[in-house]
Amino acid sequence: MKKISVLQQERLKYSPKLPASLEEGVNNLVIKTGSPTNSVADCERIRELFPNSYGKPTVTFEAGSGAGAAGVRNIGVILSGGQAPGGHNVIAGIYDALKQSNPANKLYGFLGGPSGIIEGKYIEFNDEIIDAYRNTGGFDIIGSGRTKLETEEQFLKAWNVCQNLNISGIIIIGGDDSNTNAALLAEWFLAKKAGIQVIGCPKTIDGDLKNDQIEISFGFDTATKTYAELIGNIQRDANSAKKYWHFIKLMGRSASHVALEVALQVQPNITLISEEVESKKMSLSAIVNQIADVVARRAAMGKNYGIVLIPEGLIEFVPEMKSMISNINDVLAIVSDDSDFVSASNDEVRFEIIERQMEKTNPSDAAVFRSLPTMIKAQLLMDRDPHGNVQVSRIETEKLLIAMLKERLEQMKADGQYVGKFSDQAHFFGYEGRCAFPSNFDADYCYSLGYNAFALILSGLSGYISSVKNLTAPASEWVAGGVPLTMMMNMEKRHGQYKPVIQKALVKLDGAVFRYFESNRQTWAEEDCYLFPGSIQYFGPSSVTDITTCTLQLEQKSYANV
Ligand code: FBP
Repeated sequence: MKKISVLQQERLKYSPKLPASLEEGVNNLVIKTGSPTNSVADCERIRELFPNSYGKPTVTFEAGSGAGAAGVRNIGVILSGGQAPGGHNVIAGIYDALKQSNPANKLYGFLGGPSGIIEGKYIEFNDEIIDAYRNTGGFDIIGSGRTKLETEEQFLKAWNVCQNLNISGIIIIGGDDSNTNAALLAEWFLAKKAGIQVIGCPKTIDGDLKNDQIEISFGFDTATKTYAELIGNIQRDANSAKKYWHFIKLMGRSASHVALEVALQVQPNITLISEEVESKKMSLSAIVNQIADVVARRAAMGKNYGIVLIPEGLIEFVPEMKSMISNINDVLAIVSDDSDFVSASNDEVRFEIIERQMEKTNPSDAAVFRSLPTMIKAQLLMDRDPHGNVQVSRIETEKLLIAMLKERLEQMKADGQYVGKFSDQAHFFGYEGRCAFPSNFDADYCYSLGYNAFALILSGLSGYISSVKNLTAPASEWVAGGVPLTMMMNMEKRHGQYKPVIQKALVKLDGAVFRYFESNRQTWAEEDCYLFPGSIQYFGPSSVTDITTCTLQLEQKSYANV
């Protein structure tokens, strides 16, 4: 038998908690229907694009004597996009609900993400496979991928694969882009009267797939706790050695939810919030000056050390960089067919071609590009992901800020405004948190999301996302139901064209979470108020094991740590 760690052995025995309504069993549910819905923006356009799935009502489940199971159902599941702790539990929840409903039901897992359903690569789950992955991190049970499902050809292939396996329901576990895929596929199957339902599940460590209906995406809880542990440890090291400034870039794509949540958990000296940078139209130099001021103030107190948190998407929110990146995106679309660019012998030649093209539309974008270090220029030209996003995790913003800060501090020293010593350490935390053992919260939430996703299938719904709400209450009081995917959509420019997509949630600067941070950051900058959260606890008092994020607690007004 394959050797597993002692913790894994213990976690396999953990029984995830379900909302009371689902505890009665998937065949004993009554569905309550809300009012018809509209999309968050661009209603008319979304309605036109989704004529069969637009406007459906939200639903919730209550325990009762429901319709129960009618016939045998074969379901397919896809893990899509970046890993997030708890994905295996979503699949375990689907599997348990499906087998409980009718032991003859089958669950297929498509391999390697959305491409698995197009290429017909799959496995059929059984007890042995599922039991080996309960409460574990990772997506390795079937793997993941970022293929965008959008063309007629892809949909036809997916339909063909489903027909061969007699699949009548697909569950896509993914972030905003992957759930956009789910909405497109659901609409297409409805238009074809294919008899195949599609349900999404909200996944992403980034925490940006949330709205009035979806309180948080799964994985955010575990990932932020993992980063908070690491950063707490670094803070203790900094406070012990008193010789380094640590610059820590944190994953999270565009939104700064991860950085903000971790800041609340560890109380570092400086945390940059991209949304604030954009709203205050701060230039890169303004950001660097702000950091330099804190460094100088602390140096004057004899503290030549500190912690800076940087959201990975920062660069896209700095106005001059945003304009330049949008220009690069357009230019890359043009030069990708230019043989001089494609076969350029080195980066310098490629940079020149890009600069020349940018000069034509906006010379100041070209000037910003020219001013950047070679390493950052090359990182900005790297391939976009299949959904058209800049791969911000590969841009070393922390190093760019350090380089600019050093110059600024030298200048301040020369002007007599700074008297300290500056030694830096750069870190990037991202992948470290995406496959951790899910916290109890994520283990319970994910299992509930999966179980509930199958309940939505059994209720005959399509084009919905599995929703479990009231998350700061004990799991028994969680509210399970479904939300039409079109309700969360708007039109956005992708690869130069307007497309229907699920709207990303950015940090709200007038929200309770940012406000709490704002009212404390000045103190955290100068005094050492570091918190040391330690590692995620899976066993022990529920005050430690079942606690949710500060973000959820502040949003739901149950934050006790004030
Ligand atoms: P999802 O939106 O797919 O959940 O992605 C999460 C994420 O971890 C981002 O935070 C990060 O920018 C990106 O994936 C990294 O992508 P990759 O795994 O392809 O390197």
